[in-house]
Amino acid sequence: MKVAIIHDAPVPTSSSRQLMIAFMKRAAKVVYLRLSKLVSYVSDGEGWIGVGSDARLEELDAAVIRGLGNVVTLETFLRRINLLRQLESRGTVVINPVNAILTARDKHLTMLELRKLGLSVPETAVVEDVFDAVEIAKRWGKVVIKPLVGSMGYGSILASDPDMVYNIGRLLQMHGLPIYVQKYVRRYERDIRVFTVGDSVLGAMYRYSPEGTWKTNVSQGARTETAEVTKELEEIALKAAKALNLLYTGIDVGEADYGYVIYEVNATPQWEGFMRTTGINPAEHIADLVIRLAKS
Ligand SMILES: Nc1ncnc2c1ncn2[C@@H]1O[C@H](COP(=O)(O)OP(=O)(O)O)[C@@H](O)[C@H]1O
Ligand SMILES: [Mg+2]
Repeated sequence: MKVAIIHDAPVPTSSSRQLMIAFMKRAAKVVYLRLSKLVSYVSDGEGWIGVGSDARLEELDAAVIRGLGNVVTLETFLRRINLLRQLESRGTVVINPVNAILTARDKHLTMLELRKLGLSVPETAVVEDVFDAVEIAKRWGKVVIKPLVGSMGYGSILASDPDMVYNIGRLLQMHGLPIYVQKYVRRYERDIRVFTVGDSVLGAMYRYSPEGTWKTNVSQGARTETAEVTKELEEIALKAAKALNLLYTGIDVGEADYGYVIYEVNATPQWEGFMRTTGINPAEHIADLVIRLAKS
């Protein structure tokens, strides 16, 4: 069994390393591939993938994508997506599936897909005109303006004043970026990160925002504690994973006055904080699932 862990970090992240160890423990051969070093060829009469300029990528049974890297242009984004699709079309089991990563990467598209299955999400809008953003914010009161594509809490701003929305929105508009506005809904200064692999929920943890702040990302200093996986939480998480066709995922669930809401579904979640808190290592479960799928 040959498996690749794909990301663009020069040094594998802790989650990537955990995965590599889990595959090695199962006697699989593992390679770590950087997206920026993969070459998509049409040469010698066929399409194939190279590693750097002189090696050919060997046949792989499976590949786990751990992120698309820091992509700033549409061209690089398309080329990376197409390269991963090329890998999929060679018959390699690619996890998460490229299309699923594409949907989950777009926070708004994620909301639309979740609603299709009746899951509760905060009121959300994506707009291009700053005046539309201001009017929407006036209607909703406190809003969060998030990067449409982003992670680890970076770039999200809480705005309770329409003029703040105007100033942030204007900057985004000047940079040619859409403005993603979401109603601020939460009952407590925390959210719940639920981790799923295949058809099971591995566990969940509360993430409390540091004093005086509102974000609950571990990378923003959140304090964590194991949460009970209630029947309802389990149902929501599995439904969300299914809505987006994600074979493993980290789901951010909020508690509103009217029940659970989903803030985000991550297609390439990190799990260092989850593992430290719950003692569960998702890498072991992901490796088992990948091997099962590659063999079937
Ligand atoms: N609409 C919202 N209302 C209240 N809190 C939110 C909302 N959206 C996000 N948050 C908080 O901010 C955190 C980060 O937002 P999220 O959408 O998960 O983006 P990121 O990709 O940066 O993690 C969430 O985990 C949650 O605690
Ligand atoms: Mg999040």
